[in-house]
Amino acid sequence: MGKGKVGFSVMALLVILGLILGSSSASSDDRRQRWRKTMLSGEMMSSMMLNRIGSSIVFPLHGNVYPIGYYNVTLNIGQPSRPYFLDIDTGSDLTWLQCDAPCRQCTEAPHPLYRPSNNLVICKDPICASLQPPGEHNCQDPEQCDYEVEYADGGSSLGVLVKDVFLLNCTNGKRLNPLLALGCGYDQFPGRDHHPIDGILGLGRGISSIPSQLSSQGLVQNVIGHCLSGRGGGFLFFGEDIYDSSRVAWTPMSRELSKYYSPGFAELIFNGKSTGIINLLAVFDSGSSYTYLNSRAYEGLLFSLKRELSGKPLGETPDQTLPLCWKGKKPFKSIRDVKKYFKTFALSFISGGRTKTKFEFSPEAYLIISSKGNACLGILNGTEVGLRDLNVIGDISMQDRLVVYNNEKQVIGWVAANCDRLPKSKISFF
Ligand SMILES: *[C@@H]1O[C@H](CO)[C@@H](O)[C@H](O)[C@H]1NC(C)=O
Ligand SMILES: *[C@@H]1O[C@H](CO)[C@@H](O)[C@H](O)[C@H]1NC(C)=O
Ligand SMILES: *[C@@H]1O[C@H](CO)[C@@H](O)[C@H](O)[C@H]1NC(C)=O
Repeated sequence: MGKGKVGFSVMALLVILGLILGSSSASSDDRRQRWRKTMLSGEMMSSMMLNRIGSSIVFPLHGNVYPIGYYNVTLNIGQPSRPYFLDIDTGSDLTWLQCDAPCRQCTEAPHPLYRPSNNLVICKDPICASLQPPGEHNCQDPEQCDYEVEYADGGSSLGVLVKDVFLLNCTNGKRLNPLLALGCGYDQFPGRDHHPIDGILGLGRGISSIPSQLSSQGLVQNVIGHCLSGRGGGFLFFGEDIYDSSRVAWTPMSRELSKYYSPGFAELIFNGKSTGIINLLAVFDSGSSYTYLNSRAYEGLLFSLKRELSGKPLGETPDQTLPLCWKGKKPFKSIRDVKKYFKTFALSFISGGRTKTKFEFSPEAYLIISSKGNACLGILNGTEVGLRDLNVIGDISMQDRLVVYNNEKQVIGWVAANCDRLPKSKISFF
């Protein structure tokens, strides 16, 4: 499994899984609920304020699931501003750039290292506090904020938080140049699935993420979305006025997994039939190129897929690309060549009350054709890579649909879409 980065910050993930899997006392439940109520009233006020502004920002994306393994966005940052290529990651909060502070250990980057301004984020800043492990926010130097983020593939970035200007163009023609906090990363450790990039764009739910910062400055609503094209490229957007909400299948964000974009628990449905595999906690993570199921769901899926393939002209074959691949009589050119042998499966989420919302995986959402012309399964065993019981929906399964993370309303939505052209407004997009 060469390229399968998972964009999670590991420390936080383990803490949170501990909370869910361990027994949570009544008092911590109370605390959680109260916290949610205060969030809601703040949310209502900010949407009223922001509705008057109503602008969106659209960024073209480059990259693909295979062979590149990620999607990147170009951001212009600094004074004077310079372009940087960033990996988009809805699984983590902090945005950081490889940084000349000077750099102790930087990995190969497409652009010269970022030179930070002298505008340090102080230790007491809530953004700094939000990035420290719970209960461990001690300010050795009150004038600066040190951070360290670790990802599930073993990669990490260590550095200091600074503020700098981001240049952003809105769809309504307005140009923004807000001062936002970002990490100046001077010590990077490449993970298993390392890519040559200038940094990571953190799009998570935490207050340090770029969309949260833009929203707290009253500039753009805290709504983000992406449309990853199966032919490569696509777009990322911030703001609400580029899609038609009535066409999107919405489901509430999980309260249990409040740090990640999770629609909660699901059942695995194979070819329209219930499998009995339930209680699958899933998260959406654009920082992961492939999808990971926990060993229970992974084994169930393999069993069903293989049962369907028996008697079909496909045979398992070793391939460097991914652990499970099939070859045919001739090398396959595209998924269309194998689509008839593979069924669609789904995760069916309970979206409040009794309604269920399905996230479907057609063969295009779980297979790739390797350079050797084999069809390979882009669903991996998450338990094997340390994700414990969690299920991670990665780029491969989000292709050719619009996935929207609405932090104002605390809902996640998806709808099939053409990701090949950039939206100008919701009228031209749909
Ligand atoms: C990122 O996107 C740019 C286009 O904006 C593209 O030219 C570049 O090759 C991509 N960079 C990487 C490292 O993939
Ligand atoms: C924003 O728009 C201006 C003027 O059209 C253009 O020169 C600039 O490159 C754009 N910047 C970004 C970040 O897209
Ligand atoms: C998935 O990973 C777990 C943990 O390494 C392992 O016990 C299990 O056998 C794996 N399942 C399959 C089908 O490979």
